[in-house]
Amino acid sequence: MVTYIEAASAPYKNTGAIRLYTPDDFAGIKRACQLTARCLDELASRVQPGVTTNEIDRFVFDFGMDHGALPATLNYRGYMKSSCTSINHVVCHGIPDEKPLREGDIVNIDVTYIVDGWHGDSSRMYPVGEIKRAAYRLLEVTHECLMRGIAAVKPGARTGAIGEAIQSFAEAERCSVVRDFCGHGVGRLFHDAPNILHYGRANEGPEMREGMIFTIEPMINLGRPHVKVLRDGWTAVTRDRSLSAQYEHAVGVTAEGCEIFTLSPAGLDRPGLTAQ
Ligand code: MF3
Ligand code: CO
Ligand code: CO
Repeated sequence: MVTYIEAASAPYKNTGAIRLYTPDDFAGIKRACQLTARCLDELASRVQPGVTTNEIDRFVFDFGMDHGALPATLNYRGYMKSSCTSINHVVCHGIPDEKPLREGDIVNIDVTYIVDGWHGDSSRMYPVGEIKRAAYRLLEVTHECLMRGIAAVKPGARTGAIGEAIQSFAEAERCSVVRDFCGHGVGRLFHDAPNILHYGRANEGPEMREGMIFTIEPMINLGRPHVKVLRDGWTAVTRDRSLSAQYEHAVGVTAEGCEIFTLSPAGLDRPGLTAQ
C-alpha cells in the first residue's frame, strides 16, 4: 500500500546526490517551516505539569489540519503520531502517550509539517514548570550548540565545520554529543542527503553550496554519549539515563552564510530560557 504522502514524494528519491534549491524553493520551504515554528510557539503556553504528550500530539495534528498541513511523521516508516515528544533521558523519537508531564521535566517537541510538498522540520526544548539548574544549563548549552553549528554554515566550507563547532563547545561544557542520529537534507523529501554530523572536523564532509537545505539538530547529553533504542523500535534513550536535550532548525545555504527558515516569529526559539 502506498499512502498519498508517499505518492506525493514518489518522484523524489534519496539518491545520495545533494539537491540545490532555487530562491522560489527557499520561499516554499520557508512557508512550511514557519507553520511549524508557529505551532512550536503555540506549544510554549500549553506545556504544563499534568498535560499528556498525547494532548500535545493532538494539538499538533489539529493545528496542521487547520492550516492545510500534514504532519510528516504520521505513517512515516510505521510511526503513528504527529510529533515526537522526548522527555528527560529520552534522546529523540519519544512516542506521545497518556503519561502526564511532571514539574521538573524537560521535553523536546519535534514537528514536521508538509505544506505544498515542502517539509518544515524543527524542534525545541520545553521546561515543565520549575526545572533543576543542571537541566537549565543543558538547555542553554544545547541551544548554543545549535546556534554555533548554524554560524559555521557558508558556501565553500565543509559540513564538518558544523560538527566541529558543536562538538568543541559541547565538550568544553563537559557535555557529550550523540553520534547515532544526525541532521539531514530536507525539502521535497523529509530525510535527504547530506547527513549533517554534530561532531567531527572542519575538513570532513561535503562542501556546502548555495541552494542546499538541511537541518541541524544536535542531541547533547549531560552524561555519556551512548544511546539505546527501546523495544518499541523508536524511543532512543541515554544508556546511562543522563538528561538529554535537542533543538532543531532547518537552514538554507545562501551566498553569505545561511537563512534560518524555522525561526520563531514570536521570539520563542528557546522557550523557558531568557531571551537571547
Ligand atoms: N523530525 C525528526 C527529525 O528531526 C524525525 C522524526 S521521524 C519519526 O528528523 F518517525 F520518528 F517521527
Ligand atoms: Co530533522
Ligand atoms: Co525534527
